[in-house]
Amino acid sequence: PKKIAVLISGNGSNLQAIIDDQAKTSDLYVIALVISNRPDAYGLERAKKAGIATLCIDHTDYASREEFDTQMQLQLDQAKIDLVVLAGFMRILTQGFTQHFLGKMLNIHPSLLPKYTGLHTHKRALEAGDTEHGLSIHFVTPELDGGPVILQAKVAIENDETEQSLQQKVHQQEHIAYPLVVRWFCEERIQLIDNRVVYFGQQLQQPLLL
Ligand code: GAR
Repeated sequence: PKKIAVLISGNGSNLQAIIDDQAKTSDLYVIALVISNRPDAYGLERAKKAGIATLCIDHTDYASREEFDTQMQLQLDQAKIDLVVLAGFMRILTQGFTQHFLGKMLNIHPSLLPKYTGLHTHKRALEAGDTEHGLSIHFVTPELDGGPVILQAKVAIENDETEQSLQQKVHQQEHIAYPLVVRWFCEERIQLIDNRVVYFGQQLQQPLLL
């Protein structure tokens, strides 16, 4: 099985979706490590409950992004991780770190990229009067939220939509989409080649729309 690590900063509901999926796919992958940059992240409790090794690497203990990322890289390399899954990990990563894991690191972002990189995506979609919103799962490259998209899922924005209701809808889709893409990676059905996503053994247009 592939060894994956999940990096979190908070609630970890996407981590939970992957934990639940892993229990069903048994020997396709193992979640070898969960790393949080925040000691109070609830996702750490979820991981412990599932018997997964956890590590808190508190970014406030490090003088620079480089030192923080170096520590994370050390731990991930030591654990011989095949895939790094960013799931609500709210730190910007250094070029060195993203290069090191190029083609082996996924991120989930709560917008239909290239729209709304960065923060407060639900609020910004509402304020722009958009009629649809969603999520993107992409390979991580040095460009922030800019790596090639593997899969997107859309949700409709209704007239009475609030930031909270929209976030809830997107979350629901995230919990379906992220485990799916993790499986694809572990089955070697997707690969990052020349800054593009290549899909193997399936007739897919990119990015795939769920
Ligand atoms: C998710 O909605 C994810 O898309 C978003 O944070 C949330 C984490 O929720 N990620 C980003 O905004 C990355 N820039 P979770 O901790 O419950 O999985």
